Amino acid sequence: MKPEETGSRYDRLALYWQKQHSNSTYGLAALERAIKFTENKFTENKSTALDVGCGSSGRFIEVLIEHGFVPAGVDISAEMISLASERHPEVTFYAADICTWQLPQKYDLISAWDSTFHLPLAEQKPVLKKMCEGLNSKGVLLFTCGGTSGPEEISGGFEGETFDYSTLGVNEFLRLMDEFGCTCKHVEYDQFPENHVYMIAQKTE
Ligand SMILES: C[S@@+](CC[C@H](N)C(=O)[O-])C[C@H]1O[C@@H](n2cnc3c(N)ncnc32)[C@H](O)[C@@H]1O
Repeated sequence: MKPEETGSRYDRLALYWQKQHSNSTYGLAALERAIKFTENKFTENKSTALDVGCGSSGRFIEVLIEHGFVPAGVDISAEMISLASERHPEVTFYAADICTWQLPQKYDLISAWDSTFHLPLAEQKPVLKKMCEGLNSKGVLLFTCGGTSGPEEISGGFEGETFDYSTLGVNEFLRLMDEFGCTCKHVEYDQFPENHVYMIAQKTE
């Protein structure tokens, strides 16, 4: 499925997502763990963060603000971004496809929680490279992926919509992190026996 089609399907779920997930703590422990690896300054030179596939709830954005970050969000769904902007008018949001979008700056933290797992398989490597290269020195990347040992593509239903998912597999993501100048700090099958994995990596100096 092309990213634009994924975006159209999420457009139809944007309001539902905001209502359903605004108070959800899903993934927040992982975000807190990732934040601990950053050199978050909490001074006037605030750390910067980007939430890739941020959705409409603003839940990652809120935690980042609480920790003193200046966050930004990007999402391919214009409806998700419209609702997220209403909730956090002070935050910069971009309606864009992470596959083609050029990051406007480097960040101290980049999160991609349950978003890049929707990319076509061929986009996984270039988008991981883009996110790793988009980190400042010692910057931290948090992302989720399918926890297979090799590449896989699957489809699944959610709230009446069908979505595609792809993964390079855990071994290849770990290898690529190293290739793209990052060190793996944490890998967790956080919903075992589900094949859902989150990874934290830090830009090597
Ligand atoms: C399962 S939702 C997760 C939303 C949010 N990260 C959260 O955890 O609440 C997936 C999000 O990723 C976005 N997304 C999917 N493909 C994308 C792409 N190519 N570029 C940017 N965002 C994308 C969707 O529009 C959707 O908002």
